[in-house]
Amino acid sequence: MTAFGTVFMPEMIVSDFNGAQWSSPAVVPSDSLQLHPGAHVFHYASTCFEGLKAFRHPDGSINIFRMDRNIKRMSQSSRLLSLPEVDQSLLEKMILDITEKFASEVPEPPGSMYIRPTHIGTEAAIGKAAAPSATSLLYVLLSPVGDYFSGDAGALRLLLREEGMRCAPHMGEVKSGGNYASALPSILQARAEVKADQVLFCPNGEVQETGAANFILFDDNEVITKSLDSTLLHGVTRDSVLQLARDMGMSVQERDLTVAELLERAAKPGCEAALSGTAAVLAPVGTLIYQGKEHRVGSGEPGALTTRLRGMMNDIQWGKAEDPHGWLTRVG
Ligand SMILES: Cc1ncc(COP(=O)(O)O)c(C=O)c1O
Repeated sequence: MTAFGTVFMPEMIVSDFNGAQWSSPAVVPSDSLQLHPGAHVFHYASTCFEGLKAFRHPDGSINIFRMDRNIKRMSQSSRLLSLPEVDQSLLEKMILDITEKFASEVPEPPGSMYIRPTHIGTEAAIGKAAAPSATSLLYVLLSPVGDYFSGDAGALRLLLREEGMRCAPHMGEVKSGGNYASALPSILQARAEVKADQVLFCPNGEVQETGAANFILFDDNEVITKSLDSTLLHGVTRDSVLQLARDMGMSVQERDLTVAELLERAAKPGCEAALSGTAAVLAPVGTLIYQGKEHRVGSGEPGALTTRLRGMMNDIQWGKAEDPHGWLTRVG
């Protein structure tokens, strides 16, 4: 099986901002991009991206999940990085056009077409450490993906880390490359030292999120996850799972969660925890590693509720269930 995100469609769609306006989108080969080595993005990390998916339904139609949310987030990331303002309707058209062009390549469920809009500062100006790039490039890559998380991979092991943080606290809600680079040393260390799959960043003892997913705790009828602020990414999957939980009559609490409360709740037999994100949907967490000690979450195995919510999400995405919240946009 090829690694997630390593296969690309041969073409992408691009539009560039010349300082005054966006060009009409063009479909070009996706294996190269000509940029000046002095481009702002290479020096001052003026870059943000998105990740969303298109799904093939039983009637053959192609449907994109919560595209409006990703477009809004991309626009906000661009603003918070002082990149040129994204034209949201232009980006929507770019996503729809390139997905339609490669509609026949969208895999059958559990596979999907992963869509990666990217926005970078292109101005060749190495003296602009304290000034924004006047020009930029927006492009949308497509990558067919399989079942990232097959369900029989078992439950994840997370290292709870209180020292440091994933990224600067005012940047967590920005989906920008630098945040991921910033989290890497902690993740690599956790893998090497305690064989953790991910790090759950808990600055000052407050549970936040992992390097690329939100964290959700399920305790009986309660669903607990950190409320939205600038320190964490406002996950589209998180929002969707919370909505489905509300639909099921569960008590959803978006609030602070301390490591102490997490460990106390996790010790109860029925407790479950999961990571939410576009790539993995909802991945069960079985073990929390804290100060050298391993704590099982509930039974330590993937839980029934996590599996059920994941199934409900998949059924909507795959066109096997109603889409009561209007989350899907049909392509073409
Ligand atoms: C840091 C971070 N948190 C959370 C998420 C989950 O967000 P979403 O559900 O929108 O994919 C992601 C993935 O995009 C992420 O990179």
